[in-house]
Formats: sequence, C-alpha cells, structure tokens
Amino acid sequence: MQRVSLPPIGTAKAWREAARGFLAAGVPPEQILWGDHAAAPDLFVGETVSPKAGQVSVPRSFVSMAETAVWHSDPERFARLYAFLWRVKDAPHLMSDRGDADLAVLRGMEKNVRRCQHKMKAFVRFREIGDPNAPRRSFAAWFEPTHHTVEPTADFFVRRFSDMDWRILTPDVSAIFENGKLTFQEGHEKPDLPEDAGEQLWITYFQNIFNPARLMVKAMQSEMPKKYWKNMPEAAFIPQMIAEAPARARAMAEAAPTLPPVRMDRVQAQLSAFSSAWNGPMEELPAAIRACTRCPLHCHATQAVPGEGPNRADLMVVGEQPGDQEDLAGRPFVGPAGQMFDRIAGEAGLDREAAFVTNAVKHFKFTARGKRRIHQRPETPEIDQCRWWMNAEVAQVQPKLILAMGATAAQSLTGKGTGILKRRGTIETGPEGIPVLITLHPSYLLRVPDPRVREEATAQFRSDLAMAARMMAEAA
Ligand code: URA
Repeated sequence: MQRVSLPPIGTAKAWREAARGFLAAGVPPEQILWGDHAAAPDLFVGETVSPKAGQVSVPRSFVSMAETAVWHSDPERFARLYAFLWRVKDAPHLMSDRGDADLAVLRGMEKNVRRCQHKMKAFVRFREIGDPNAPRRSFAAWFEPTHHTVEPTADFFVRRFSDMDWRILTPDVSAIFENGKLTFQEGHEKPDLPEDAGEQLWITYFQNIFNPARLMVKAMQSEMPKKYWKNMPEAAFIPQMIAEAPARARAMAEAAPTLPPVRMDRVQAQLSAFSSAWNGPMEELPAAIRACTRCPLHCHATQAVPGEGPNRADLMVVGEQPGDQEDLAGRPFVGPAGQMFDRIAGEAGLDREAAFVTNAVKHFKFTARGKRRIHQRPETPEIDQCRWWMNAEVAQVQPKLILAMGATAAQSLTGKGTGILKRRGTIETGPEGIPVLITLHPSYLLRVPDPRVREEATAQFRSDLAMAARMMAEAA
C-alpha cells in the first residue's frame, strides 16, 4: 500500500505530481491511500511516499476538471480523482459519458467549488487595518469558505486590488498580499477587525438596489446563503427589509409615475417595430436584408449576407454571422467554416443543397488589425435586431427542422445562447414552435487546439448532422 499526504498549501500541484508519478509507475487506485493535512494522524502511520513525477498524457478536459475539483472539502476527492484518472487514461471518451456515475460525482464537486469561488469573489468584505494616509493602504477580511477556495481564487483579488496590501483570513488557508507579493499561510483564528467607513457605502448600496416589489426570499438566499451573512455588513439589514417589503411595494405602486401618453405611444411604436416580423413580399426579402441599416454593423461590413437555398426547405441551417470570405462573396458559409460544414455534412448524409443556409446575424462584425479583419462575436442587441430577418426567413422557408450551429444561432432561435456543449444534440423549441436541433459551430472545430478534444467535438458535430439527416428522411 502506498500512502501519500498532501500539503494544505499547493495541494493541487502536489496532487497532480503525485497522480502523474503513480500513473507512470502503473500503481492502481486500490493501492494508494490519499490523505490531506486534516486526515486523522493514525491513518498515516509509517512512511509517506513522494512518487516521482512521470510523463503521462491525459485528456485536457480531465486536467481542467481536476484543477477545480481538487479544492473540494470532501476528503475522498483525491482518491476519486485518481480512480477516474486511472480509467480515463485508456478510455478518454469517458470524459463525455454523461451516464458515468464517477464522472458525475467529480463534475458535482467541480460545480460546488466554482460556486464557492463565485461566492468568495462576491462576499469577501475588506476592512482597513492600516493608516489610510499611508502610501500603500492595508486591508483585511475574514471569510469562511465551504471548500478550499482561497488559493485558486486569490489571483482574482490580486488583479482587483493590486495597489493595496490585503489579507483574506480564513479558518483554512489565508492569502496575504504585501508589496505586490502573494503568499499563503495556514488558517487563522477569527480576528477582531475594526468597523470600516466603507461599510456604510455597502449598506446604502444594498438598500438602494433592494426592490421590495421583486422580493423572492428563496432565490435571494440561494444567491446569498445565510451562512455568509454574519461577515457581511449589509446583510444585517436583510430581515428588516424583508419584513418591510410588502408595505414598501404597496407604497411604490401607489406612487408609480405614469408616462405621458405621447411618449408612451412613441415607445410602444418603437417596441412593436422591433418585435414584429418583416411583412413584405417574400421575393423581396434578400434585397431588403442587403439594404439593412437596423444596427451599426452595416457601417463597416462590405454587405449584408442573406440566407440561400430553396425558398421552401424542410431543413434550415443557421450559423452565427458571415465571416471574412462570406462578407466579400455575399454568400453564407463559403469560407473555412463552410468547407468544414460541407465535409462533415457529406459524411453524415446531409444534403446542403436541399437546405436553406443562413446566419443569425447578417453583417460581418470584426475589428481591423493591420490588414486583417478579426472576427468579433455579435452582442445580444445585434442578435436581437437581426432576429427580425431571422424570423422573416423562417416564415418564408417554413422548415420542419432548424439546425442551430453555435451559441449565437441558439440565442437567436431559442432565446438562450449559453451552455452549448451541454445542450448540443438536443432539440428545443424555436420560432413558430419549429424544433431547433442545437449543435456546435463548425468554426469551433477549427479552433480547438487539443487534437483529442477536436476529434471528440467533430464526432459530436457529425452525429448531430446525422440526426438531422435522419429526421429529414423521416419527414420526407
Ligand atoms: N461562420 C458563420 O457562422 N457563418 C458563415 O456564413 C461563415 C462563418
């Protein structure tokens, strides 16, 4: 049996090196007893072993998950990570096996740690402990994290507060930033910190953003769990504000300002222009799109690029926006991403010629760098403005299925552009109730640096296109 005890500071690096060494030496999980500094001492009788780092290659997605999950407070985390690593080294596809129970536990740990990091960034409250007139001011905060998040989150505070000295003290590990240098120390007792002038600012801010008419106690407590309240000055006012909310909401409703009718008319006319669909003759739609000036993107692009394909098609394929080559040619998906799409569509049995191919945003958005035009992702207002054309094209083509490639297409068609890696391969509801099959964007496949991740993503993309092809065959 090999025993390894990991230090409280630098735990992630120590685990990584130990795991690499064990893996390279072919030591199976059941022969290792992992422990951290907090483990019962009698568990570690005898010599602890420091395995030599070895050269092994593991999927990048595992490394990224382990780098976060290793900070979880569960003492079993090291053993769980190694046991899964042992399996994944021969079967990298396990990283995307949603049914794998071990992976699900580790993903859960990763999520908990990220959530804890987010809370730490939001809820640490510094109090001044030095002379406010000193050239470098000095602050301290007391915080009680659920997981070991001080070390992996400290860089955030270094970036934010680089011009002052600060220390975040916790019962676990403390971060000390002095004269531009970050160090870690083992935990502290709760210090007696002075009240801070800045606290009043927090309290005023919190009282001002608190909207009694939109009070949702459960949602608020899930965002700002009660256990953090005791170290947050503004939280002392929460019970009082909750108690007063109904009366304040009533008073707000009674005192609500009314818009003068003239302005109200104008606002409503504008809103209806944004939300209704284009209703000109369908044969004029491409020309209307080419003439679009609805958002500032038209100022720099060469031209707007309307969709192309049969006027009525069972399948509509939607990308993000024209790229450099599409902007010059005036046609969608003719550049590298289009070639990637054509190749994989061919392999998946999907006929591009039978589909109507278009983009969620019709103008190329870029920044100029020398002679190169560098693609910029469209923002929500641009996607919203261009939905007008998207809806008009959907109304014209009346597809039975829409293939949304990437986050922008998904946002335009379903209202939500996040979490594409999790949503891909699933069907959601789009405009006019038409099913939308979410998939990756072909440019993503061109950009992924890790060949294994790229291969995995390409296989997923191919399988999504094959699903679309099967659905088309069934619908015919
Ligand atoms: N990327 C897209 O999303 N659409 C194109 O037309 C070209 C590249």
